[in-house]
Amino acid sequence: MFGRRGSREAPAGGQGPSDTVATGPVPALDLDSVHRAYPGGVTALDGVSLRVPGGRMVAVLGRSGSGKSTLLQCAAGLDRPTSGTVRIGGTQLAGLGEAPLTRLRRDRVGFVFQSLNLVPSLSVLENAALPLLLAGRGAGDRARAALAAVGLADRAEDRPAQLSGGQQQRVAVARALVTEPDVVFADEPTGALDPVTAAGVLALLRRAADDGRTVVMVTHDPVAAAWADEAVFLDAGRVAAREVAPRSEDVRAQLHELGRRSHEAPDVRPHRPPTPLPYEPDARACRHPAASPYERSPR
Ligand SMILES: Nc1ncnc2c1ncn2[C@@H]1O[C@H](COP(=O)(O)OP(=O)(O)OP(=O)(O)O)[C@@H](O)[C@H]1O
Ligand SMILES: [Mg+2]
Repeated sequence: MFGRRGSREAPAGGQGPSDTVATGPVPALDLDSVHRAYPGGVTALDGVSLRVPGGRMVAVLGRSGSGKSTLLQCAAGLDRPTSGTVRIGGTQLAGLGEAPLTRLRRDRVGFVFQSLNLVPSLSVLENAALPLLLAGRGAGDRARAALAAVGLADRAEDRPAQLSGGQQQRVAVARALVTEPDVVFADEPTGALDPVTAAGVLALLRRAADDGRTVVMVTHDPVAAAWADEAVFLDAGRVAAREVAPRSEDVRAQLHELGRRSHEAPDVRPHRPPTPLPYEPDARACRHPAASPYERSPR
């Protein structure tokens, strides 16, 4: 399950100290000056711009509460920015009504939620197949292949509650990849995994990027970030730094620097209400224990 490194070309464009103007074809993902403010005065995103071409894997890092999940949810059309624009494959999300937006999310976007959002009443296979089932497409073979890719072929008929937290996390990864979407968003996809299993999941995401898809992965883990083509560091809702071809030690140092700069801010996990599935708004979240770090490095 271990993947090769991706090619190293221009970095993903982004606002901040080393902004880059994207050239060439329409980027797979294009955020322009995205702001997201919540009632009560919290500014979760404060003008984030990020352009990511196809075939690129980007890791998003930053302290708890820095806006990483909000960024992914705005980028995936699960949340609406207060201002700014998000485009997926050139389609501006703000211009879409609910039905086309749901279709775009279902067909062109894969999302691994921080809270997983597996559907407890469905089998593991049905969970992995859900985007295909909701699109009225045949699901069996592809979902079985997706489960096999995350090492869970033999658990297809179980319910999520019968799996460990890490196994459930892998089902969520299988579901995000099953449609072979243009853009894959993964919010701490290796948080509950042991080092070897985590490396397998990272290799799957890496392979998706190497096959031409765009992968945007939130992680707190410098080793996981080292699988990406670029690391983007958020601080208080802004892009504070970027690192092309990140090495885990550089990522660790950057995180340390960000922590030092904002040492007065408490590192407390924010409360976030359960998020609806991109394709089934009424599904309920299934929450799981948080991450343990691991040591393997692909570099
Ligand atoms: N629904 C909400 N209502 C109000 N504030 C919110 C909401 N969701 C997030 N926030 C706030 O927005 C900020 C960014 O939250 P976000 O979940 O994006 O952080 P994060 O970087 O993903 O953190 P973590 O690493 O803990 O997952 C936090 O201050 C958080 O409290
Ligand atoms: Mg988060």
